[in-house]
Amino acid sequence: MANKYFNINFIFMLIFIFSVAHAQIPDSFTNLTALPKDIGKKDLIGIMKNFTSSLGVRCNYCHAGKEGISDPQELSEIDFASDKIPAKDITRVMMKMTQSINNDHLTLIKEKNHLEKVECVTCHKGMAEPPKKLENILARQYEKSGIEAALKKYDELRAKYYGAYVYDFTFQPLSNFSDALINENKGEDLVNFFTAFLNKYDKNSWNAYLEIGKAYASENKFDEAKMNYDKALEISPNNENVMWFYDKLNKEIKKK
Ligand code: HEC
Ligand code: HEC
Repeated sequence: MANKYFNINFIFMLIFIFSVAHAQIPDSFTNLTALPKDIGKKDLIGIMKNFTSSLGVRCNYCHAGKEGISDPQELSEIDFASDKIPAKDITRVMMKMTQSINNDHLTLIKEKNHLEKVECVTCHKGMAEPPKKLENILARQYEKSGIEAALKKYDELRAKYYGAYVYDFTFQPLSNFSDALINENKGEDLVNFFTAFLNKYDKNSWNAYLEIGKAYASENKFDEAKMNYDKALEISPNNENVMWFYDKLNKEIKKK
């Protein structure tokens, strides 16, 4: 019986909390240009909640405070009709863009049953600004402040987002980052980067040994390159990717 009593109280409490929140939101809307003007309150709140979770923000990311309130904390302090915050108008563009992707473009594909609808979260993944590609973030950090800074950035992002639906922590982005730097003759920096990667994250990463080998090869340090390709093959025997680079190296050595 005690349990049942608790449950009923709990449900009343939820209804109370919800109705307070609900009551702080106006019943009629005066400034809708993207949504249907006659949309019901329940539907509108559902859409707004979807925005907040898709972008990882609160209502006040898009909605400004009432007269004299610059940083509203309560719903009652918000002037929902105001367009003062630019993110609100950007959102209207985003709503039209998303609608157009789904209704004007994806509908042109015949087997459309196989496709999900594109939603805010498809691109935003819980972030106010959609996450940029990891290799681009690292490359930008490297250009600005060098390889130590790029490594630090990787550490930070990995600590915060590993396992989350935001950045790709497979080896592919690191491999792309590496290729870009090899093209700029930054082999030595790459050796440092991937040595740190081996020490910190995975001492059995054949991928990292391969990148170190490629970096040495790009600097004509053939013995070091071979040593690292050998280590990669020790971890992953007959790895086709490594063997391809090994062949390439042997051909280069022959030419010299
Ligand atoms: C990512 C931006 C964004 C977030 C976050 C957001 N909203 Fe909105 N909201 C909008 C946009 C854009 C409109 C206007 C839509 C239109 O023009 O049809 C709007 C309109 C409204 C309106 C109607 C205002 C009027 O009178 O025209 C209400 C009420 C509202 N939002 C409540 C909320 C609540 C409550 C939350 C938090 C749970 C929230 N919003 C979070 C972007 C946002
Ligand atoms: C196809 C991918 C895609 C979809 C879908 C999408 N967005 Fe965006 N959104 C972006 C990109 C890319 C940017 C960054 C634009 C820039 O700054 O150059 C952005 C920027 C924004 C911003 C500005 C962020 C800031 O810096 O303040 C808001 C707000 C936003 N989107 C809301 C939404 C909402 C709400 C939806 C769903 C209705 C949505 N977006 C759907 C790709 C998308």
